[in-house]
Amino acid sequence: MFKKDFLWGASTSAYQCEGGDPNDGKGKSWQDVKKIPEGTLDFSIASDHYHHYKEDVRLMAEMGLKAYRFSIAWTRIYPDGTGEINQKGVDFYNALINECIKYDIEPIVTMFHFDYPQALEEKGGWSCRESVDWFVNYASTLFRLFGDRVHYWLTINEQNLMTLYGKLIGTFHSHGLYNNEIQEMYQQNHHMLVAQAIVIDECHKMLKNAKIGPALNIALAYPLTCKPKDIQAAQNYNAMRNWFYLDALVYGRNNVIMDAYLKKNNAMPQMMPGDKELLEKAHPDFISFNYYNTLVCEADDGTTESFESPIFARRGIKGFFKGAKSPYTKSTAYGWEIDPDGFLTTIRELYSKYHLPLMISENGLGAVDEFRDGTVEDDYRIDFLRDHIEKLREAVDEGVEFFSYCPWSAFDLISTTKGISKRYGFIYVDMNDQGGGSLNRYKKKSFYWYQKVIKSNGENLK
Ligand code: BG6
Repeated sequence: MFKKDFLWGASTSAYQCEGGDPNDGKGKSWQDVKKIPEGTLDFSIASDHYHHYKEDVRLMAEMGLKAYRFSIAWTRIYPDGTGEINQKGVDFYNALINECIKYDIEPIVTMFHFDYPQALEEKGGWSCRESVDWFVNYASTLFRLFGDRVHYWLTINEQNLMTLYGKLIGTFHSHGLYNNEIQEMYQQNHHMLVAQAIVIDECHKMLKNAKIGPALNIALAYPLTCKPKDIQAAQNYNAMRNWFYLDALVYGRNNVIMDAYLKKNNAMPQMMPGDKELLEKAHPDFISFNYYNTLVCEADDGTTESFESPIFARRGIKGFFKGAKSPYTKSTAYGWEIDPDGFLTTIRELYSKYHLPLMISENGLGAVDEFRDGTVEDDYRIDFLRDHIEKLREAVDEGVEFFSYCPWSAFDLISTTKGISKRYGFIYVDMNDQGGGSLNRYKKKSFYWYQKVIKSNGENLK
């Protein structure tokens, strides 16, 4: 049974839904300067949440949401990443937060979700040590501006995927400052870890009633067979993808598998005196994680293609792991494995390792929805979410402490690489990848289903 005050919510991120306004003073981020995939919608329009936020929050309230997880665009607050504050950006988030509170919706704020200020990137971005101060300055500003009303803070979205797959997501930029690219990736990661450690501590000092934690993408990798080498390959990948970040953030510890990998590749990040102590001192209040699918690994047999391949089954690192295809799971139309049991397996593993309360900041099904007669009959999305909530309930019944579930996404928005035609929302947004559409909102079948789920506090999943 879910706790009475369980926060049923839904998620979005700023650059994927807000759109812009030429007069609002927002600075450019990674997302505004990257080359978007051909034939996909421009971020300057997106779902135009910037102008539709009142209607969006009203619809979320009608759905029964108890929480809304959204991100703040760093460049709306600080157009250049540091320096002068942009009052229009502050006004927007004040209005959005107040609108949530008006309907008793708990705002859960991600500070940074894939949209780093371009002005800071040009000064060296996460590769340079000053990036720690820049993030701490930005985060402290958020605590000061919104901390009287925001009680849940998520530091960085999917730091692990930015580190591992930054080139694929478009978030890794090399400044050529280190021995090699691997060291630069892990140096950026180290700066993010130290910055978060300071920010977690700062949050506890500044805001007595707030809770703060990271938002990683955690998905367990299974060994393809019980061959010892396959098991070791899965251990390697799990260390690299999941545990390395949490060992540092929760315990301030190194991960031995990753230490060996980094040493072997001449890629140990440079530590400053005091970094270890900062990491040991920081104590997140919870772990938030995004869960979409699990993965399978086998031992590298010499045919591993490359780490950058978009298809996991072809991805790998020579001598470390090779991605494989599961014979047991079905996939979405976009090739993502559907594995609700893996959700429970991942939760068990995570909770046993770190013993912290958990929340889900993303979980959902991307699909091409067919809009007909003012709605979308998205039974496939309902099935996906139902199967996952069932496993979440099992985990809660086993004794795992969970306080929130925020599926992706509250309403349709632009996906990371497939435009707005890959939809996740409970609410349909009339906009297509050619930039045509009224931006009107329509309730999908899943909207009414989730409304029932929330009303019954997760008991009625039919
Ligand atoms: C998560 C990201 O990895 O997956 C979101 O935090 C993203 O930003 C979501 O949108 C779904 O991925 P995609 O590629 O289908 O948009």
